[in-house]
Amino acid sequence: MKTALSLLLAFILPSAGWATDTVIRAGTLIDTKAGTTLSDRYILIEDGTITDVLSEEEYTRRAVSATMIDLSDMTVLPGLSDAHVHLTSDATLHGYRRLTRSTPRAAITGVRNAKRTLEAGFTTVRNVGAPDFTDVALRDAITDGDIIGPQVIPAGRAIGITGGHCDNNLLPYEYGAVGGGVADGPWEVRGKVRENKKYGAEVIKFCGTGGVLSKGTTIGAQQFTLEEMEAIVDEAHQLGMKATVHAHGERGINSAIRAGVDSVEHASLISDEGIRLALENGTVLSMDIYVSDYILSEGEAAGILPASLEKERQVGKAQRERFQAAVRAGVPIAFGSDAGVYKHGLNGRQFAYMVQWGQTPMQAIQSATVINAELFNLDGRIGVIAPGADADIIAVDQNPLQNVRALEDVDFVMADGAVIVGRGSKPN
Ligand code: ARG
Repeated sequence: MKTALSLLLAFILPSAGWATDTVIRAGTLIDTKAGTTLSDRYILIEDGTITDVLSEEEYTRRAVSATMIDLSDMTVLPGLSDAHVHLTSDATLHGYRRLTRSTPRAAITGVRNAKRTLEAGFTTVRNVGAPDFTDVALRDAITDGDIIGPQVIPAGRAIGITGGHCDNNLLPYEYGAVGGGVADGPWEVRGKVRENKKYGAEVIKFCGTGGVLSKGTTIGAQQFTLEEMEAIVDEAHQLGMKATVHAHGERGINSAIRAGVDSVEHASLISDEGIRLALENGTVLSMDIYVSDYILSEGEAAGILPASLEKERQVGKAQRERFQAAVRAGVPIAFGSDAGVYKHGLNGRQFAYMVQWGQTPMQAIQSATVINAELFNLDGRIGVIAPGADADIIAVDQNPLQNVRALEDVDFVMADGAVIVGRGSKPN
């Protein structure tokens, strides 16, 4: 409303100048939609929303009066997003060590991690699995302004079979430890989807194969029948949510795509058939191709089980090769890192791997902006610097199109119009 009014006023009273609250002067601006760059642009921001992007000439003509943030020596791009994080996880606590952390304690860990993530330039994240509804609480605390963090799209509890990757298999029977998202059978899984929605989830995550870090599961083994997967996806879609599947093995990936999932997490051993199915169905792949390095170098010290390290040795390199095949085939690639397995705030380390394994720097940036935006149903709202988008803006000294590793250390972060890092930020 305010925007419409100021537009009107500026139109009828041009001598009054252009009312806006902040202007960012961008030396180089990355246009993520077009896949090009522009130079010397002025980004007008009002009430946390981008209202216009002007050339120098247009900007001078309009006589804008506002606080100016001068980033004329920097490359400016939309805030990044990550389709696969676990904000409530502590990367130093794997395996049995995780059992020492209560759910409320995990939520507090999430407070710290949300801040780190935002400061690293990731202004939106999809949290694909958290104990109970700690991710929903984080989202709400951030929205209410109690804590700072990225925009969070929470999945609540990841849904999985008894004894599967999304269950808790660490303790013997008599302890009765069961993952909050465990359900078996088409009606039971529908119930879990409904319950997640009831308590605030905005996306549904389920486990369609075994995993690396879970005890007693096999990467190649499908979890859930096709019928159960169809029930999960159908129920999620019916309630207006997207569904994403954790899947490493070929069979689980193919079944989940056939069941209609919107995205596949990991997709490590995706076959040519799986790539063809993904292309046919418009399924997005969210492949965490950095994390293997962390698991194999620091995982043991963090408590990762020997059997998990062994599974990682089988899957890590293969996943990168399959990433390359998927990129070549033209499958839409999301940026998803699995931060939480490794330290939050280091999400940007994955860019260099995505480029090393086949993407151009522009494509890797598009994965973390426009492709994720579409996957999150936030097309036009995030991932672009254009009128109507959230004022989530980052900048780096070095041009990331020349050296994508520049995104590992972001020099300026604005979220919702507030400067979090860099010029114009307030000490906190
Ligand atoms: N959370 C995942 C799992 O336990 C991590 C997989 C990491 N490895 C990889 N190569 N992406 O299965």
